[in-house]
Amino acid sequence: MKRTTMKDVARRAGVSTATVSHVINGTRHVEEPTRQAVIAAMRELGYQPNSIARSLRSGETKTIGLMVPDASNLFFADIARRIENIGYENGYSVILCNSDNDLAKQQEYVNTLIAKQVDGVIFISAGESREDLERLTASGTPVVVADRDVPLHLADVVLLDNEAAGYVAAGHLLDLGHERIACITGPPGVGPSMQRVTGCQRAMAERGLRLDESLILPGDFTIQAGLRGMETLLDRPSPPTAVFVLNDMMAIGAISTARRKGCRVPDDLSVIGFDDIELAPAVNPALTTMAQPVQEMAEIATGRLLEKIHSSDSNWENEQIILSAELVVRESTAARKS
Ligand code: RIB
Repeated sequence: MKRTTMKDVARRAGVSTATVSHVINGTRHVEEPTRQAVIAAMRELGYQPNSIARSLRSGETKTIGLMVPDASNLFFADIARRIENIGYENGYSVILCNSDNDLAKQQEYVNTLIAKQVDGVIFISAGESREDLERLTASGTPVVVADRDVPLHLADVVLLDNEAAGYVAAGHLLDLGHERIACITGPPGVGPSMQRVTGCQRAMAERGLRLDESLILPGDFTIQAGLRGMETLLDRPSPPTAVFVLNDMMAIGAISTARRKGCRVPDDLSVIGFDDIELAPAVNPALTTMAQPVQEMAEIATGRLLEKIHSSDSNWENEQIILSAELVVRESTAARKS
């Protein structure tokens, strides 16, 4: 039988799940009529606040931790805002931990989250994070990993199908007649970056083409890397006619360098990015990109974590949820000039 959830009570009482949580936990004042409506809804639905899990963890802190690699990157800033909104709606505060792509700093933050006994953690890792995750899960802290993969026995995982997204992005350039395609990648060893390149190589191979290794430039997902990478590509004796930049922050830098060097985007050179950050439609030319389902990823990661926090099921089954990106064609790509 489906377990009645806080969401069911909120719907029946016509209030938010945060209000239901405040009535149950007494964490905020609720007007009496509303309080009575919530109590009536709990009674009618037979809802029992799951206090067992909370007491097992010697009282909840009503706080969740969120680890991100770079808070200044608009993709992470966006998903952090969405996760914070969902947490707040459910009566949770969110502690943002910015690892700055520094594994030592990430480890320190893991220690802090354990020490503060946060109720759960959404983890987007700076790089190889197995040891950090093993310490978190060993401490009994519920964890959901987003964006970057880890072995399933460690945590629930919400990912994008990056290989398929790379395949679609390259397919768009190939459909425009481009054959000499370059890539500016994310940091070495970061799964989503490597998988996007693999998808690009698969799309090219299907058309009898090969991604020239000398046109795969290492980046780090920052604007600076895009500025530098495009400088390198355009200084080549035979520049590419299209560049797949593996995130929008770098794509913005790349377009800026192209303009400075008198290379017109898209007339002389097509550029496609990845993420569809808020700035993507506002740059000139507006950026063609692969849109990530950020809201869906935030909802699934946070919803799954809150379920895990409230579950007393000692046989919890970790899940892997894979989402898809969508091609958004704007102005920065065009047919190759013959
Ligand atoms: O822009 C940051 C990138 O790193 C995004 O593409 C996201 O997938 C993360 O892995």
